Amino acid sequence: MGARIPSQWEELTAADPAHSTWYVERFRALAAEGTDIVGEARLIDAMLGRGGRVLDAGCGPGRVGGYLHRAGHAVVGVDVDPVLIAAAEQDHPGPTWLVGDLAELDLPGRGVAADFDAIVCAGNVVTFLAPSTRAAVLAGFARHLAPTGRLVVGFGADRGYEFSEFFSDAEKAGLTVDLRLSTWDLRPFADGSDFLVAVFSRAGHRE
Ligand SMILES: C[S@@+](CC[C@H](N)C(=O)[O-])C[C@H]1O[C@@H](n2cnc3c(N)ncnc32)[C@H](O)[C@@H]1O
Repeated sequence: MGARIPSQWEELTAADPAHSTWYVERFRALAAEGTDIVGEARLIDAMLGRGGRVLDAGCGPGRVGGYLHRAGHAVVGVDVDPVLIAAAEQDHPGPTWLVGDLAELDLPGRGVAADFDAIVCAGNVVTFLAPSTRAAVLAGFARHLAPTGRLVVGFGADRGYEFSEFFSDAEKAGLTVDLRLSTWDLRPFADGSDFLVAVFSRAGHRE
């Protein structure tokens, strides 16, 4: 097996080891001042029955998965940055928080069933992947969805991952796009939108 390819986030934090702590403290400060930092999570909650199984992919310090846990869902969060996972454990106890590389996602190998009703990948995570791992990450998402589960990915334009390339990669990974939005509060996507929120089903399993 080849060596693991570090994500762009790992390269960023290797160059600036304080970046992870800065990121944690930034969201702690926003939460403390009452800023709404759970809009993405509310959309996911609306998509689920009660007690759904959710994978927070690239969960960071856990703001999305933490909210979904408190809403009664069974949440697993995976992130490659151990500093962020430690913050998630501290700030949002309850979900299963795991250090792991989404490019090598094998939750059954860690005793977690791969039958998620929703996989949420918020906060530009896909733009921090090593580009050569994007296909593996999307294939991993498809593999970890329940047959009728859905994947929701949100990221901004001009961050090095063209939306058209992303859709093409997702299709090759066995994901069918159901919905294209430009915000997490459901504004429609249009040519020129500077943000994308895309909802996918497993190919052949759209309901
Ligand atoms: C901007 S942060 C977003 C964190 C979180 N989703 C949120 O919205 O608060 C990007 C995250 O992607 C994670 N990430 C990037 N590449 C990854 C990979 N290959 N595997 C797991 N996590 C990764 C980083 O560690 C970081 O936590």
